[in-house]
Amino acid sequence: MSIVIQRAIGAPISRLDGPAKVTGTAKYAFEHQVNRPAYLYPLQATIATGRVTGIHTDAALAEAGVLAILTSANAPKLIPGWLAELLLLQSAEISYRGQFIGGVIAETPEIARHAASLVRFDYEELAHDTKFHADRDDLHEPHVFIGAIEDHDQAQAAQSDIDAAFASAPFTVNATYTTASNYHNPMEPHATIAIWTNDELTLYCGSQGVFMTRAMLAPLFGLDPQRIRIISPYVGGAFGAKTFPTPDMVLTVMAAQLVAGRAVKMALTRQQMFSQVGYRTPTIQHIRLAAGADGRLTAIEHEALEQSAKVREWAENSTRATRKMYAASLQRTVQQIASLDVPVPTFMRGPGEAPGMFALESAMDELAVASGIDPIELHIRNETDVDPVSGHPFSSRHLVTCMREGARLFGWYPRDQTPRIRREQQWLIGTGMSAAIFHMPRFLGENSTTIRVNSDGHYSVHIAAADLGTGTWTTLAQIAADTLEVPMEQVELQIGDTDLPEASPGGGSAGLSHWGAAVVDAANKMRALLSAYGGIVPAEGLEVTGKRPANPYYEQFALYSFGAQFAEVRVHELTGEVRVSRLLGMFDAGRIINPKTARSQFIGGMTMGLSMALHEHGVLDPQFGHVVNHDFAGYHIATNADVGSIEAHWLDEEDLRFNPMGAKGIGEICIVGTAAAIANAVYHATGIRVRDLPITLDKLLQ
Ligand code: MOS
Repeated sequence: MSIVIQRAIGAPISRLDGPAKVTGTAKYAFEHQVNRPAYLYPLQATIATGRVTGIHTDAALAEAGVLAILTSANAPKLIPGWLAELLLLQSAEISYRGQFIGGVIAETPEIARHAASLVRFDYEELAHDTKFHADRDDLHEPHVFIGAIEDHDQAQAAQSDIDAAFASAPFTVNATYTTASNYHNPMEPHATIAIWTNDELTLYCGSQGVFMTRAMLAPLFGLDPQRIRIISPYVGGAFGAKTFPTPDMVLTVMAAQLVAGRAVKMALTRQQMFSQVGYRTPTIQHIRLAAGADGRLTAIEHEALEQSAKVREWAENSTRATRKMYAASLQRTVQQIASLDVPVPTFMRGPGEAPGMFALESAMDELAVASGIDPIELHIRNETDVDPVSGHPFSSRHLVTCMREGARLFGWYPRDQTPRIRREQQWLIGTGMSAAIFHMPRFLGENSTTIRVNSDGHYSVHIAAADLGTGTWTTLAQIAADTLEVPMEQVELQIGDTDLPEASPGGGSAGLSHWGAAVVDAANKMRALLSAYGGIVPAEGLEVTGKRPANPYYEQFALYSFGAQFAEVRVHELTGEVRVSRLLGMFDAGRIINPKTARSQFIGGMTMGLSMALHEHGVLDPQFGHVVNHDFAGYHIATNADVGSIEAHWLDEEDLRFNPMGAKGIGEICIVGTAAAIANAVYHATGIRVRDLPITLDKLLQ
């Protein structure tokens, strides 16, 4: 059942929380006011592998204002669970450099930080292993795909069949593509306030989903989840790094146990973020494509290698997109990981698809060059209506329209594929494109919504959804207003608190999809109840609870967002400097609830893709096992000056198999393909195929 579009859905409504944010009254995690807070500063291991053999805290404890020092000697007991990196201070073992091995609690943040510098640890250091490369003899298949629980079954064509197709194909591509590790750096670094009162724990933190955060923290402390309240009304960006609880949260809770009765606050520094909150794994991906004289693919092989951590296994799903894209009858995908003495990678915007589609869509461009077929035409010849591996039809797939419409708006044609064909003085100019795809996750959890109406016609809509800066405060209110058939002014939303009805996390581009379905259900129930009352709200008001129904289409259809990205680059012939003069994305993301907030997400994702393509590269020092460039001086993220013209467009479509709003995911489809479009444009400009991200200028000076 679809909902009737009234007036709010589809309107470019400015975010309702905007004034609170720009005036500083929207409270982020660290800013909540609590009574007499104490401040925590973490102590981090300065070796990558080994154990702590001695702890010297006397000098720090002698500082005025120090309340306690948390170490393995006095740490509260934790209960081992799946998120092994959260099991802090339970033993002397060190699994990666930067691991938390204690913390100083003091009256002020300055005292805590200074006293932390006075704590000394003795270590027994063991040889560590942090080198990620393809020649290791301990590569293995992952046991669990977490970043990518859907469709992790690999495509199973026999390698001998692929080899045979490859040997006889008129056109082939056989290349290795690598991507660097990328680090989430939301504007709001991770911060926590923990308060224990009578075995009840209250946490203020940035969370992509307060129910998930709680469900994962509670067993660690042996607590009934009901005894934990998590409050996270505003999140200053997350990108995946606030999906699972992070070690800083656990350390803050432990510190609050130690100084019972005091609230404890901790905010990570930018440098600490690089070892604590996860990152996008680097990848090494080998792709072979075989195509007939007409460009139709006969075989696709994609072998991906990713970095994982010894402390806990993590596998991104870099090959998933490949299995969904093209109609080749022979497809083989393989995924392996290298488990190293490093922090655990995690979800980062477009996990799986973002690095995977850089490789696949670079390879498709190489095939276009080899065959002389225009890249868009090549894509169209390989288009499929069904998931090539499962055989399920796509619930909707407007990829070809995205490419054609995008090409028209971008001015793709006429295009001569010959490299170095355009120049302005010493700037070589080229264009490139990439297809994009992003999956709809199905694992995220329950969603319910309570709506209450007062006799004055004022509706309160409650759901523990999250707004990561994406616009949830506004878009969920739009969905509620339209379904209730009332103006937005009569609707007040509450989100971001475990005291509200359960909601799944804002992740996998499915937040609004899942929450919205619950809001629609509750709003429909409210309208039915109201009409039973003859449209008159009784004096005591009315209340209903609705739930997101199970989605019956998961079993019958492949549910994906699609897009096409186009880039124009200018590469300086003498310096190798790359400027992205134009980026254009055309997206098939179903109904757009709010064009204003959606556009922000689209151009944000494209900017992040540009950043991945040209700049972001966490450099791990194998000698010490840490990220050397762990700050904004060394780890460059694209800024305004790095971005030229950037345009996001979308098709006016709806897909009611996703949810009753007809909306698909938008938050991640927009980063998928940007890097390939830019790399392909760099090839067109220069004739140099850079298969290794980021495309720094040294790679163009040959
Ligand atoms: Mo996203 S990487 O699903 O927060």
